[in-house]
Amino acid sequence: MALDETSHTDSNSEPELEMDPNLILDIRELKTNFYTYEGVVKALDGVTVQLRRGDTLALVGETGCGKSVTAKSIMRLVDSPGRVEAGEILFMDEEKDGTRVVKDLLKISEDEMRKIRGNHISIVFQDPATYPNPVFRIGDQIAEVIRLHQDLSLDILEEKIAAMEDALKLAEGRTADQISSRLAELRGQLSNPPKPTDAEIKKAAKRKAVEMLNMVRMPSAAEIANQYPHELSGGMRQRALIAMSLSCNPKILIADEATTALDVTVQAQVLKLLNDLKAVLDASIIIITHDLGVVAETCTQVAVMYAGVVVEYTNTRELFSDPIHPYTSGLLRAIPKLTEKVAKLTQIMGTVPNLINPPTGCRFHPRCEFATEQCSNERPPREEMKPGHWVECWHPQGSLAGRK
Ligand SMILES: Nc1ncnc2c1ncn2[C@@H]1O[C@H](COP(=O)(O)OP(=O)(O)OP(=O)(O)O)[C@@H](O)[C@H]1O
Ligand SMILES: [Mg+2]
Repeated sequence: MALDETSHTDSNSEPELEMDPNLILDIRELKTNFYTYEGVVKALDGVTVQLRRGDTLALVGETGCGKSVTAKSIMRLVDSPGRVEAGEILFMDEEKDGTRVVKDLLKISEDEMRKIRGNHISIVFQDPATYPNPVFRIGDQIAEVIRLHQDLSLDILEEKIAAMEDALKLAEGRTADQISSRLAELRGQLSNPPKPTDAEIKKAAKRKAVEMLNMVRMPSAAEIANQYPHELSGGMRQRALIAMSLSCNPKILIADEATTALDVTVQAQVLKLLNDLKAVLDASIIIITHDLGVVAETCTQVAVMYAGVVVEYTNTRELFSDPIHPYTSGLLRAIPKLTEKVAKLTQIMGTVPNLINPPTGCRFHPRCEFATEQCSNERPPREEMKPGHWVECWHPQGSLAGRK
């Protein structure tokens, strides 16, 4: 494995990476604090979770459990008074020749981080009202991202060829000969397209922007491209944002409750859209939501967060069929059932703790029906209790009930 000077050189991590070539993001023991007047908010207390190529990972948990702070920490966008205090965020980058390079996003320079944000990891934020930029047309904003991140020379050349081929169909005699020879000349350039002019790039980027809007199933994409963000509904603005985030061909897309402001149906549609697009775009996705119902349909992996800790992490089918952490079972019981006439929401007793003085030991213990003295004194270790099924709990439930 090739390593550059910014690479992670911890000898412990490498054998593991060699074993799993599909790992793309490896977050280890991430700690993020906020230094407020009231005290230090220990927002993330050792978050450990992985993302593999092709995965759609859900981060779920009640409000305030640290989902957005995790996303912001990955992007290195935690702002004052917040600070990432410890941990590693290993991103498996690829050189042009295909060699893998491991970069700790917490260690690389700001310059390099900016490049990763623009090219490899994209985020769609929770509040679409403040973004996209209100003063520019939707299509122009997407076109700008495309212009900055994509080499359009081949597209432009291919378009010229297509136009020539059309002209040839209509032409006769000498004109046809002239067109044919020009066409042969253009085809000869396909392996090494010439540098297009600025005007050609601008035009091609605009056309691609409309393609992107079509791809996110925006109705009348060409018209929408000419509109300003405030002219769009919340759901459409969300689609425009997704189109924009995908325009740089990211390897990882993070959607931070992109949809809470929208109604549930729109939310489900957007998540389904993301999932459909994943195959086309070859991107891995992190979806942040508190709706486990949505997770079941769209995600391959789930990390359940509670009070700044990933308490359970496994694949979706396993999580739903054999939830081990009592908090996960509580969340699953709280999903309203369509079959019930009156939605019966079983709430988890109690509320999310204040993270300035979080509970000692297991942070969930004050709300847990299985809690013992050990739970309030000692934090449980993170353990692979079943293959690929990681849990932090002294009293695992589900198929492991009574084990300890
Ligand atoms: N700027 C800030 N200053 C102080 N505390 C903060 C700040 N941002 C987040 N926090 C705290 O960090 C913790 C995690 O917040 P976070 O926004 O990640 O929650 P969340 O899981 O995304 O919740 P939601 O579902 O409501 O979006 C919370 O206790 C929150 O109060
Ligand atoms: Mg949030």
